[in-house]
Amino acid sequence: MESKHILIISASVRKGRQSHNVALFFQNFLKEKYQVQASIADLKDYHFPVFEERLRFLENPPEQVIELSERIKQADGLIIVSPEYNGGFPASLKNVIDLYYDEWRRKPIAISTVSAGGFGGAQALTSLQFQLWKIGALTIPAMFPVPNVSSNYNDQGEPADKEGTHKRAANFINELFYWIEAKKLKQENG
Ligand SMILES: Cc1cc2nc3c(=O)[nH]c(=O)nc-3n(C[C@H](O)[C@H](O)[C@H](O)COP(=O)(O)O)c2cc1C
Repeated sequence: MESKHILIISASVRKGRQSHNVALFFQNFLKEKYQVQASIADLKDYHFPVFEERLRFLENPPEQVIELSERIKQADGLIIVSPEYNGGFPASLKNVIDLYYDEWRRKPIAISTVSAGGFGGAQALTSLQFQLWKIGALTIPAMFPVPNVSSNYNDQGEPADKEGTHKRAANFINELFYWIEAKKLKQENG
């Protein structure tokens, strides 16, 4: 099987953010357990301006907007790690979803939502799933909700319950890989 490239979008730009630890976990897990390239697109590093227009209609798009576009296009699949804020996903992520269009089309995307509370961002998950579906992405039918994040992951992305977390993560990743492979077969066979 040829090597896959997975891009992990870490959506929280908040000082003291916790969901980034889940993004670190996925990067480590993918590198250690699977022969794949895994990189993080950290929205905190990008400092995108508030959305004004879609990339394809911008006359002079900022370099970073083009750079992330290329990273999304080149990835075989994405994992989006999103915090839950007030029952939804953050503005930083909506900003990026609206900026792009072709980049999302038929892109296999796995969603992990993260909360301080006990429900693992279940409310953010449904709205994020819907909006990615609406824009034409291939959102996979598996989820990875993370409740009580600060007691479940440390700052290096290590989970408190390693065995249980690895088992859940393997199911989640296998589903993402299934859809990546299915898409490749379709592209090969026309
Ligand atoms: C504006 C805001 C709203 C939040 N709303 C919720 C919420 O609705 N439910 C919840 O469980 N946690 C909520 N939280 C806590 C976050 O889920 C928590 O900070 C978690 O660590 C993920 O976000 P982070 O990566 O920015 O830390 C909220 C946090 C912020 C900053």
